[in-house]
Amino acid sequence: MSTYKEYTGVHVPSFEKSPARLQRLSYAQLKELADIAEDAYYLLDLNKVSDNYHQFRSCFAQQYEACQVAYSFKTNYTPALCHHLKELGCFAEVVSRMEYDIATKVVGYHPSQVIVNGPVHSQQFVETVMTDGALFNADAWYLLAMVEKVCQRYPERHFKIGVRITYPITEGGDSRFGIPSDKANMSKLINWQNSLKNCEIVGFHSHYSNSSRSTVSFASRINGLLSASEAFFSSTTPNFINVGGGFFGHMPDSLAVQYGESVATFEQYAEAICTPIRSQYTVQEGVNQPLLLLEPGTALVSNAMVFVAQVLEVKSCSGRKVALINGSNHNVNHKWQGETLPVQLITKPGSRSTSNSGETFDIVGNTCIEKDIICQTVNGTVQAGDFVVFQYMGGYSNVLKQPFIHPCQGIYAWHNQRLLRIKRSGDMHSVLSDYQ
Ligand SMILES: Cc1ncc(COP(=O)(O)O)c(C=O)c1O
Repeated sequence: MSTYKEYTGVHVPSFEKSPARLQRLSYAQLKELADIAEDAYYLLDLNKVSDNYHQFRSCFAQQYEACQVAYSFKTNYTPALCHHLKELGCFAEVVSRMEYDIATKVVGYHPSQVIVNGPVHSQQFVETVMTDGALFNADAWYLLAMVEKVCQRYPERHFKIGVRITYPITEGGDSRFGIPSDKANMSKLINWQNSLKNCEIVGFHSHYSNSSRSTVSFASRINGLLSASEAFFSSTTPNFINVGGGFFGHMPDSLAVQYGESVATFEQYAEAICTPIRSQYTVQEGVNQPLLLLEPGTALVSNAMVFVAQVLEVKSCSGRKVALINGSNHNVNHKWQGETLPVQLITKPGSRSTSNSGETFDIVGNTCIEKDIICQTVNGTVQAGDFVVFQYMGGYSNVLKQPFIHPCQGIYAWHNQRLLRIKRSGDMHSVLSDYQ
């Protein structure tokens, strides 16, 4: 049973009048919430998360019925968000004991709905995962040695595990995670499996975060999984094929153009992945097709959250205009490929500020670090009191934020005409709670 705690409703009249469209928030809405938060804040649209999930799942299910989506917790493990996805039927993908405990003890997942990946685990954790009945995907040989110990400790039980494999793929290469699916490792895996009476490898997993997110890349990823499955399972069918995450979601045009490739749709991903599976594992009476597991993070949540900060002062520094805000690079700069963030300036009604004046300004952060320059040469004329709204902040933002100098900001969620506070802003007590 879920031990998940209900979050708190917040009364914000301007939100009740019009639905939260994260791309079109008004000054009045931003201001009202800023007054409640007394700081910068994240705003999450849970209805958008539902839309993303349903669209993603149905595109795959239309092409291949036996599929299951497992949300990647690392992308954003905010419990209310994970709980919302659970209610929609989404499973959990976790990579650490902390994430496993959030999934099972806070969000209320049954272990059988949790996929455990990740390169670094303790023997005790591997035992917990296996005996609880979660799906463990071993990422390395040392983890298989841990699996072996668990099998020896529980000779009366029969375990089923997966293995993460790695192989070169088109458009962006390699992953340092997983066991290489070359001939030598595959025959070592077969021998390992044969040496254990009570453990069965039932499927392969791969995930690439360092490569293109194109359909060409996904075609290559699925081919690698299918070849390994064919070699390893020969005359039988694996229980699952797990193609990992790494899908583009719907995003603002200004971000999409920066990827230098066309941003694939969910339908195109489904086509690229499901067609080869269907041709290798045709529908036959009495034989189950392998379950296709998908682990999206970004695609489900990134476009569903914004970070809202207010301009505190504007000044001129060596000829450039600089707007100081009550947030930092640490709040928003999760893009590791140097993308320019989609940012909106929402000006105070009646002010001289405008977003198309021909002038430009830089946005700088609140950390006392000279390099905390969040955006450069943003178009517009800006004044103190204006808001800056950073779009596409649902993934890898609040989970990467450190309480450096200032504590972390709160998160508010819009759901079915209600505004809810789903994370308090931090304070000295929450920041110091682990220190002694
Ligand atoms: C194993 C695994 N699955 C899924 C994901 C989610 O990736 P993304 O947010 O790019 O969809 C990650 C992220 O690194 C991951 O490591």
